Amino acid sequence: MRVLVVGSGGREHALVWKLSQSPEVTKLFCAPGNGGIGELAELVDVGAEDVESLAEFAENKDIDLTIVGPEAALAKGIVDLFEKRGLRIFGPTKAAARIESSKAFAKNLMKKYHIPTGQFAVFDDPQAARAYVRQLGAPIVVKADGLCGGKGTIVATTLSEALGAIDLLMEDRIFKEAGQRVVIEERLIGEEVSIIVVTDGVTALPLLPAQDHKRLHDGDKGPNTGGMGAYAPAPIVDALLAQQVMDRVIMPTIRAMASEGLVFKGVLFAGLMLTSDGPKVLEYNVRFGDPEIQAILPLLKSDLVPILDDAVEGRLSMAQCQWEPGSCVCVVLASGGYPGDFQIGKELQGLESVKGRPGVFVFHAGTKRDRPAPTSTRAGSGDRFLSWGGRVLNVVGVGPDLDGALKRAYDAIGAVQFNGMSYRKDIGFRALKKPVNR
Ligand code: AMP
Ligand code: GLY
Repeated sequence: MRVLVVGSGGREHALVWKLSQSPEVTKLFCAPGNGGIGELAELVDVGAEDVESLAEFAENKDIDLTIVGPEAALAKGIVDLFEKRGLRIFGPTKAAARIESSKAFAKNLMKKYHIPTGQFAVFDDPQAARAYVRQLGAPIVVKADGLCGGKGTIVATTLSEALGAIDLLMEDRIFKEAGQRVVIEERLIGEEVSIIVVTDGVTALPLLPAQDHKRLHDGDKGPNTGGMGAYAPAPIVDALLAQQVMDRVIMPTIRAMASEGLVFKGVLFAGLMLTSDGPKVLEYNVRFGDPEIQAILPLLKSDLVPILDDAVEGRLSMAQCQWEPGSCVCVVLASGGYPGDFQIGKELQGLESVKGRPGVFVFHAGTKRDRPAPTSTRAGSGDRFLSWGGRVLNVVGVGPDLDGALKRAYDAIGAVQFNGMSYRKDIGFRALKKPVNR
């Protein structure tokens, strides 16, 4: 089977790594990929959102299955386009992807089908939005309706912060039309978990529950980021809670979408808040979590290809996920300054020294492979890697338990270096106190 993965981050490197182990895969491509992915797949110089060129490529190269990493391509209708051209692709249609690309759509769906989520109201008029937050007061959450690369949610602790958020989104249009409509939501309190399932629109196959670390600094301080680390399984999700989430959130969502005429195929990822009142949905995503999937796939014993293939074919009830015992943790190494301004082009050092270490994987996020200059004195050093984004590397450790996984990941980080490198030292802190109970 000839497989194309779309995307260029750590999530896509983990996917390519897992797919490369499948006996079913004869050739792997990744568009556009990154430095690390280039070691496992042939890189295609087409952007992840250039859906027309991707379809062209898939047709010309006889691709049997395309797997989409980032949401933007899905929201742009890559699945509709591929299906129209008779190309097999794993993911939801543009209309079904609205569950991520429009928070108002997602919230209204949850309300209609009684799926637990915070109280909310939707506004197109900034005057009305301001009146509403004045009436309810802070703390309160203001969310842009559209896709903002994870930056469109403001958890306001004061009224002026909430009013400022409305101004930025609706008047200043910092996220353009993504902010012309807003959702204003009650603030929920609790621990967050990521529940990711693969679905064919009828059946759902849950992956291991995971927890992300969105804030930049230790102790969940500092600004929000794309995610600074993750671990799986999250022990807070015991078997009972996992079943509850399937019964009250995941299956009702899949059925709700089908009732709306939007059969949902692909990845359904529910970001949940575990409140004292039970799990409530903060948001849905329609693709694998990044960095969650980097901490999930190393524990997946089963071949991923038949699972995704069965989802595409609508026969997922035949599929199964077998898991390795133990824990997996992913620590993100970021460029200094991220998520604000940062510099790229820094040489990554020490990667060779961690290659092949037991229980250690390095998934590249923002990196680029660079040929050494002809004058280089590093004889025989071959290609080198440069930082090429805010999140640069994902160092992953697998161990018999979370402590063991953390030790492997952080020991490996000790051997890796680039100018300005920053990372959290406390990934997994919430779970360290809890017993694993799968
Ligand atoms: P979202 O864009 O909806 O995924 O939200 C991004 C982050 O904002 C979440 O991961 C939470 O940490 C926080 N958040 C979103 N909605 C709420 C809410 N209703 N109450 C508290 N925190 C929230
Ligand atoms: N880790 C959260 C996300 O992928 O959106």
